[in-house]
Amino acid sequence: MCALALSGGGFAQQRSWFSDQDLTLTGAYYYPEHWDESQWERDLKQMHELGFEFTHFAEFAWAQLEPEEGHYDFGWLDRAVALAAKHDLKVILCTSTATPPVWLSRKYPEILLLKEDGTRLDHGARQHASFASPLYRELAFKMIEKLAERYGNDARVIGWQLDNEPAVQFDYNPKAEEAFREFLRKKYAGDIRALNAAWGTSFWSETYASFDQITLPKRSQLFMNHHQILDYHRFAAGQTNEFLNQQCLLIKKYARHQWVTTNYIPAYESGHIGGSPDLDFLSYTRYMVYGDNEGIGRRGYRVGNPLRIAFANDFFRPVTGTYGVMELQPGQVNWGSINPQPLPGAVRLWLWSVFAGGSDFVCTYRYRQPLYGTEQYHYGIVGTDGVTVTPGGREYEQFMKEIRQLRGKVPAKEVKPADYLARRAAILYHPENSWSIEQQKQNATWNTMGHIEKYYRPLKSFGAPVDFIGEDKDFNAYPLLIAPAYQLADKELVDRWTDYVKQGGHLVLTCRTAQKDRFGRLPEAPFGSMLTDLTGNEMEFYDLLLPDEPGTVEMEGNAYSWNTWGEILRPGDGVEVWATYQDEFYAGKPAVTTRRLGKGSVTYVGVDSTDGTLEREVLRKLYDRSGIGIMELPYGVTLEFRNGLGIVLNYLDRPYHFALPKGATAVIGEEDIPTAGVLVFRF
Ligand code: GAL
Repeated sequence: MCALALSGGGFAQQRSWFSDQDLTLTGAYYYPEHWDESQWERDLKQMHELGFEFTHFAEFAWAQLEPEEGHYDFGWLDRAVALAAKHDLKVILCTSTATPPVWLSRKYPEILLLKEDGTRLDHGARQHASFASPLYRELAFKMIEKLAERYGNDARVIGWQLDNEPAVQFDYNPKAEEAFREFLRKKYAGDIRALNAAWGTSFWSETYASFDQITLPKRSQLFMNHHQILDYHRFAAGQTNEFLNQQCLLIKKYARHQWVTTNYIPAYESGHIGGSPDLDFLSYTRYMVYGDNEGIGRRGYRVGNPLRIAFANDFFRPVTGTYGVMELQPGQVNWGSINPQPLPGAVRLWLWSVFAGGSDFVCTYRYRQPLYGTEQYHYGIVGTDGVTVTPGGREYEQFMKEIRQLRGKVPAKEVKPADYLARRAAILYHPENSWSIEQQKQNATWNTMGHIEKYYRPLKSFGAPVDFIGEDKDFNAYPLLIAPAYQLADKELVDRWTDYVKQGGHLVLTCRTAQKDRFGRLPEAPFGSMLTDLTGNEMEFYDLLLPDEPGTVEMEGNAYSWNTWGEILRPGDGVEVWATYQDEFYAGKPAVTTRRLGKGSVTYVGVDSTDGTLEREVLRKLYDRSGIGIMELPYGVTLEFRNGLGIVLNYLDRPYHFALPKGATAVIGEEDIPTAGVLVFRF
């Protein structure tokens, strides 16, 4: 197995945009257009004095940048950039395409996004333009080109963020429909019979005679062809990706030394994240506290889900090896169900959580609390008077001080302990599997992301570094590879898995994997048999149980409950059975098997346990067998390493004692870590 390889497949040429010695840069969003110009300097000065190193301008400012069609005004932005530079703040610029000005929507209403129910979105909010509209793109690109021409060579500007939280649009604009037909013509090489075969249109008289007859699938219509919906997902994700990539290339015509990224929402299943190859790296936005109680204990809703940031780090980092966080809340938000105050310490805990995963920058949303508009009640680093620092603002200040104290005193980012690296694992992920499964869940209690988390959670409690990877990556970089519910597959992928195992990898495949081809069709062969040569199992059948009357699987004398999905396996020679079903007419039959193959092993987990405890024990057994030592951290405590530092994060509702490894010294915090506390140590 070779060392951890994190090169970006197909992405913009790898460059190091950030200096290892900085550890992380910290910045804050500022909207000059929201404030009287006489206050800009005061604000930027205070931003700098608090410790921030960059700011972020022009995100929703298209109306200020181009007040009339073809008339641009950069004077205000020039003055804001100059003031930022005066106060030692670098600038991230945004392309502002999330908010077209009113002249645009009124003159060209065809650019507005059309919902499936026929509602046309309107001016007065944001994100109402259709990415599939060629006219919209043309007008956006004109404005972006002017912006890039002016600032692309400006040393005060470090980088660009495209649009805002660009999502996959399910847009029923006629232009989207035309583009969908084009997409299909290309995909099926103009052969309507190929499309009919892929979509299985002999079923229910769905056959098409020509591409012109095809419409966007009505997703709310009962029983709509799900092969068609699968292709629509691919198309829609592609539209967003193409729009972003075009913006990026346009900026790069002028920007030779600035990076380009965008601020994705970690909507893992939406399928566009990482799909614009010319972006230099990815960044994400993360909100931790907004009301739903995802944290631990009674006050967990003030601290947030312990793995929410870790999951995003592990999802975004592997794409190019570099990532940052573009938005992190400094306090209360205004759009959640409850919008509570974060627990004192929580904001700093999140900052350290972002850092722990290997990030290069973090930016807070936002510097000032707005006085008007949709985001009133949204906290900033300073409050409504524009000067009083909020509690979260103080926590930012503390974090930035701590980072500065470490600068120059720690080794390179990749310096991590050998036992930590030995535990590294990859989770193979493709959103198409979720799209496909979610169309045919078969059991209302099935939850694709929840299933994946049943493997991710224990890995983190074992103290393992985890990468979510796509099929473009080298599997051999990881001693352990898990493909959870990887439903859509083909022979090529199964061959790659087989090679990986033969060369010494430990592969875990879980229920529902490789049951369909890439069009979402069942192969004309015994059910589940794409994997038979690899796992050594045939599948007798699968069963789904009532949630109130779950079944039991037994492994090493312990019982585990399940109901969502259970495959009854028929193992061949040389296959070892790890767990068996205890009930029904298949009591005693295998649910989990393992087998050595070449220098490695393949473990098949045919059942989805209710609470993830079976999955945890399977992974533990596998690590034990492979002779890789693991840790035992409770859910709520995470340990990561970077720059020769160990970072322990406590999301528990009680203090946690972390015994420092021999020879390690604490540099921030102590072994007794309070709730929302952090311990940073040198090893
Ligand atoms: C984000 C969005 C920002 C801002 C923020 C408020 O989702 O990207 O523009 O609206 O929410 O919390």
